[in-house]
Formats: sequence, structure tokens, C-alpha cells
Amino acid sequence: MENPVQPYDYLVIGSGIAGLVFALKASARGRVAILTKKHRAESNTNYAQGGIAAVTSKEDSFEMHVSDTLQAGAGLCKEPVVRRIVEEGPALIRELIDLGMRFSEREIPLSYGRKELDLGREGGHSKRRILHAKDVTGREIEQALLAATAQRPNIQIFENHCTIDLITTQKLGEDGPNRCVGVYALNVPAARVDTFTAPCVVLATGGCGKVYLYTTNPDIASGDGVAMAYRAGASVANMEFIQFHPTCLFHPRAKSFLISEAVRGEGAVLRTIDGAEFMDRHHPLKSLAPRDIVARAIDGEMKRSGSDHVFLDITHKPARFTMDRFPNIYKTCLEYGIDITKEMIPVVPAAHYQCGGVVTQVDGQTEIPGLYAIGEVACTGLHGANRLASNSLLEALVCAHLAARHTAEHSAPPVDARRIPAWQQGQAHNPDELVVVSHNWDEIRRLMWDYVGIVRTNKRLQRAKKRIVNLQEEIQEYYWDFLVTRDQLELRNLATVAELIIHCAQSRPESRGLHYNLDYLEADEAWAQKDTVIRKSTPSPLLQGR
Ligand code: FAD
Ligand code: SIN
Repeated sequence: MENPVQPYDYLVIGSGIAGLVFALKASARGRVAILTKKHRAESNTNYAQGGIAAVTSKEDSFEMHVSDTLQAGAGLCKEPVVRRIVEEGPALIRELIDLGMRFSEREIPLSYGRKELDLGREGGHSKRRILHAKDVTGREIEQALLAATAQRPNIQIFENHCTIDLITTQKLGEDGPNRCVGVYALNVPAARVDTFTAPCVVLATGGCGKVYLYTTNPDIASGDGVAMAYRAGASVANMEFIQFHPTCLFHPRAKSFLISEAVRGEGAVLRTIDGAEFMDRHHPLKSLAPRDIVARAIDGEMKRSGSDHVFLDITHKPARFTMDRFPNIYKTCLEYGIDITKEMIPVVPAAHYQCGGVVTQVDGQTEIPGLYAIGEVACTGLHGANRLASNSLLEALVCAHLAARHTAEHSAPPVDARRIPAWQQGQAHNPDELVVVSHNWDEIRRLMWDYVGIVRTNKRLQRAKKRIVNLQEEIQEYYWDFLVTRDQLELRNLATVAELIIHCAQSRPESRGLHYNLDYLEADEAWAQKDTVIRKSTPSPLLQGR
């Protein structure tokens, strides 16, 4: 049975901080559909630990936050964007608090019990400026935002709806300027493809950590938004800058459990397998050096000693402090048999954050009218070549707000839903499909880890390129003929994102920020302020000759 087109005023793809903040604001002016891949809370946002960076104390200033962000970004941040996001932050934090978000507080010394926000510290920040809810900041933000959306009758959330592709007027073969008018989405429980339309479509699909074998990200992070926008003809930039978090728990049973940088912010120290400190050889800030430096130092240390992890040590802090400040990390590690108040924590670096993404203005506008991208999926210019810790929740919050304002001030013409054809579903079931999908999925993740990881070389990138071209061919072959499944959709997107990362990495003949290539050990001035931009209309060199 054909399913009718579902028209809305706003379509939001993703229910993390970016999507939910946008939806809350837009719902004052129209009907909003939020499409989300799994359960509504399942997002990177939900797992954020350290907190959200914003200038809220008298000892801090916008200037200092801007300067720390620029410093981390290694010459590639767009300063006006940095300034705008930093300056808009505090008022939006206030809105979050008014909505019900409760950040941790501490007693002001000698104040007879008065309280103030408890500000954490993380690498690269010259001041304490991280607002947090103990070590479960993301979960608290997600819950506060979901509770607020539940109060808005104008917002409808569609769980287990995996968006397949954007619908643009160009794809429909219409004359005139291109415009995004809706999406096709796999309704997983019903095993059918539904069509949603709106004059305003917002990608808030988060990042692509799952393209790497080891990641701090949950399974939803398969780069769908970047892949969809790229297929629709939007520019994608700076995908070579994948941030590896230095400290993911190393344990055979633990999948993707982060040990927050805030633990180092409170004095934890990195040690070799033999218990020796080593970060003093790499940076004056030692264990609290910028993330790229710490991740590379750990990688080097592991290669040098042949060990499969290093240690993070917070045993010198009072047990009561550690248990109170990091209750989730304490409890989770204990479940794996590690009492962090008495024992060192085995850790390894893991893929964590995508600094590049769909090219946007600070208010989320992409090059395709009607299409916005906000949060981790977007490349606004805030992060440059390396994101400053806890700046991503801030960016998602501010850009969602600015995007909602932009859509309010620039209304788009309505969409004539009758023009949109239903999805053409292939009918075949492929008996081989499951094994092929899981094999290709594993292969991509392993090759990205081995060849396009923390330390790169031209030869490794070249190898990765060859393999991804073969994989892409295989994936394309079976993609169209068969009934689509979520695994298949994600695999196609992972392959596209892998291709984009490799392309951008090969296009930057220097080492800068998170992109470290042994064939070019230094940053090249000629590449300062140059983004690596790719668009589908410019054929990818990987696909040339096919
Ligand atoms: P997400 O929160 O990832 O949400 C993406 C949403 O899109 C999800 O609902 C997902 O299901 C949905 N989606 C994806 N694809 C599709 C599709 N095809 N169809 C439908 N829905 C789709 N940043 C900080 O600033 N501070 C921190 O302390 C911090 N800690 C972190 C800890 C961890 C373990 C991780 C993984 C990240 C952390 N980050 C932190 C980064 C930060 O959490 C993310 O960058 C941010 O939450 C991204 O928000 P978002 O709304 O853009 O995307
Ligand atoms: C962390 O808590 O270490 C993550 C912070 C971030 O990714 O910004």
C-alpha cells in the first residue's frame, strides 16, 4: 500500500541537542516533525560527559575563550564565527537552565552557603569555564530538552525512522534554482519508506565516529547527514580533521566508554604501562595539553612500548572527591572491576569528533536553499583544524538558535507535496546481504583505523583510497536492487564519509591540528586558512575513471 506524503512546516533530522533546540524554537511558528534513527534519546549528546564551555565567571572573558578556541584550531578557525558563538553562549545557557537543565553547583567559599556554578577545566582552556552536571552533562541536557519537547503539541517525534536521502527540486528534475523540499525515510518497524516534505529541512544528524574501528561514539554516528548532503550537491569541508579522544576505557567488555578529559582537568596524570609519566616530554601542559598532542603522544608511546594501552591515574586524589565529581565514570569502571580511586585506568585513544562537515553559515544555512545543517554535522568554521574541548555542545546550542531565527525571518515557499514521487523500492531479498554488509562495514572501519588514523602517511592514504573505491563499487551494486535496511543505509553512508575523509586528507599536503602526516611534518603557511572543500559536482578523484 502506498503511504501518503506527510507535510510539515519544519523537518528536523536528529534528536540530539541541535535538533531538539531547533525544534523547540521553531515549534512556536509551525508544525515540526523530528525524525530520529533509534530511540529519541540515542545520540552523541546523550553521552557527553565533560560539559559545555561558556563564559560565565568574572575571572573569564569572551576574549580569552575566543583566543583559546583560535589557538586550538591551528589557524583554520573563522574568527567572526568563533566570536559570535562564544558571545551568544551565555544567554542560551541561561535559556537551557530556565528550561529545566541543572548544572552542578558549588558553595562559594565564606558565603554562608550561597552557591555558584561549578566550572570544570579541560585541555586547551586557559580558565575554568566548563559547565557540567557531574560527569553526565549530555544525559541531563538530553532529558531536559526531551521533557520540554513533550510539552509542545506542535512537535511530533518519529523514532526508528532512518532518513535515506534528501529530496531536492534538482533531483526531481525541476527547472529553476535547486531547493530542498523533503526527505525519504525508512520507517524501520513498518519496513517501508515514508516521504516527508517541508519548506525547511534541518540536518542535525551528528558525527561519523563509527567510520573508525575504535570510537567513543554510539552506533547512530555513521555520518548520514554529511553523506546525504553531499549526495544532494552541498559542499563538505575539512573532513580530514577527525578528533581522536585520548582516553577511552580499554577493556575487552567495554564498548566506547569515555573517560572524560575533565578527569585530567582535576589532576589525573597519564602514565606508561610501567607507571612513568610521559606527557612532560611532549608539552608544557603535560596531561592537559591539547587533545591532538595527547592522542599522538599516547599513540607513539603505545607503538614504542608495544603495549595496547596506557594508564590514566587519579588515585592521588581523595576517593570521596573522585566518587562525587565523577560518579558515572567511577561506577562504570567498577562494573569492569577497576576501582579508579585505588587503581590506574587503562585507556586508549579513539575517534571522537568530526570537526569538518557540511559547509554552513553560522546560522546553519547550507548552499542549498531550504536545507540547514547544525551541530556536529556542520562545518561552520568554529573548530578549524582541532576542536577545543566542550565547544561542540556550545556550537550546537547557538547554531540551532540562530538557524531557528533565520527560518523565522526568511519564510520559504510551501512545498506542493503532489510533485514528490514515492520512493522506488527494490524488491529483491539478497540471501548474502547480511554477511556482505557486516563484512564491508568491518573492513571500512578497520582500514580507516589502520590507514587514516591518528598518524597518516601518503602511502597509507593511497592504500585506503584503493580499497574504498572497490568497496564503493560493491556497495553501489547491491544498494539499488534490494529492499533497503538500516544497516545497508548506514554502510553506504560510512563508505561515502570514508571516501570524503580520505579525499580531504590527501588534499592537504601538510600537518596541521588533527591532520598529522609523516610525509609533511610541518604546517605549511600556504595552507593556513585554506579549507579542503569537496562537492559532488566536482567529481571526486577517487571516483574518476569509473
Ligand atoms: P547528536 O547528539 O549526535 O544527535 C544526532 C541525532 O541524529 C541522533 O538522534 C541520531 O539518531 C540522529 N540521526 C543520525 N542519522 C540519522 C538518520 N539517517 N535519520 C534519522 N536520524 C538520524 N561535546 C562537548 O561539547 N562536551 C562534552 O563533554 C562532550 N562529551 C562527549 C562525550 C562523548 C562520549 C561523545 C561521543 C561526544 C562528546 N561530545 C562532547 C561531543 C558532543 O556530544 C556532540 O558533538 C554533540 O552532542 C552533537 O550534537 P548533535 O545534536 O549535533 O548530534
Ligand atoms: C570529555 O568529557 O572529555 C569530552 C569533552 C568533549 O569532547 O568536548
